[in-house]
Amino acid sequence: MTSHPDYWNRFYEDETRPGWDMDRATPLVAEVLDLALPLGLRPGSELVVPGCGYGHDAVELESRGFSVTGLDFAPLAIQGAMHRYGDRVRWSQADWFNTHLGPWDGVFDHTCFVAMDPARRSAYVEVCAEHLRPGGLWLVAAFHDVQGRPAPPHEIPMLEMRRLAEARFEVLHLAEAQQSHPRRAGREYLLVARRH
Ligand SMILES: C[S@@+](CC[C@H](N)C(=O)[O-])C[C@H]1O[C@@H](n2cnc3c(N)ncnc32)[C@H](O)[C@@H]1O
Repeated sequence: MTSHPDYWNRFYEDETRPGWDMDRATPLVAEVLDLALPLGLRPGSELVVPGCGYGHDAVELESRGFSVTGLDFAPLAIQGAMHRYGDRVRWSQADWFNTHLGPWDGVFDHTCFVAMDPARRSAYVEVCAEHLRPGGLWLVAAFHDVQGRPAPPHEIPMLEMRRLAEARFEVLHLAEAQQSHPRRAGREYLLVARRH
C-alpha cells in the first residue's frame, strides 16, 4: 500500500540508503529554478518539498535563498533528514494529503507525484493546488519512462500530465529535462504550472 507511511518507511529501515536516494540534490533543482525565477518565483519565497526523503533537495533550495519546508510521512525519512542537515530547513513528518501547514508560494515535487498510486493522481493535483497561494507554482519532475518497472515510481506521459494539471493550473512549461542525473537521463521531464 504505497499510500501508507509503513510501505515507505520499510525502505529506509531495510536499506539505510534506498535505491532512489542519490545522496545529494537532483541537478533538476537548478534547471527548475532557471525556469521559475523568470516566471516570478522570488528568493525568500516559501517552498515545500513533499516526499522529501533525506532532504537533499530541500536543503539545496534553502542554500539558494528560499524558506523551505521538507515534508515526508515516513518517520525514518524525516529522522534521516534531520540527522544529515539539522534545522537548516523546517522538517515535517506529515501526510501531504492532510497537512495543515502552508500555504506556500511553490511546491518542488521531485519523485513524490510519481510515487503516488496512479488512482490518486487527480486528488494529488487538487491537494497541490490547495496547498499553494493563488499564483503559486507547482514545479514537478516526472518520469515518462520507468523502464518497465511495475512498482513506484510510475511513469506518466506528458500529455496525461498536462490534462491532470490543467484542472487547477495554467501550464507554463512542459518539456524534456536537460540536466537529469545520469542514471535518469532521457527519462524525465519538467512541468512548471501556475495555480489559477
Ligand atoms: C521515491 S521516494 C523519494 C524521496 C526523495 N524525494 C528523493 O528523491 O530522495 C518517495 C517519498 O515520498 C514519501 N511519500 C509518499 N507518499 C507521501 C505522502 N502522501 N505524504 C508525504 N510523503 C509521502 C515517501 O515516504 C518517500 O520518502
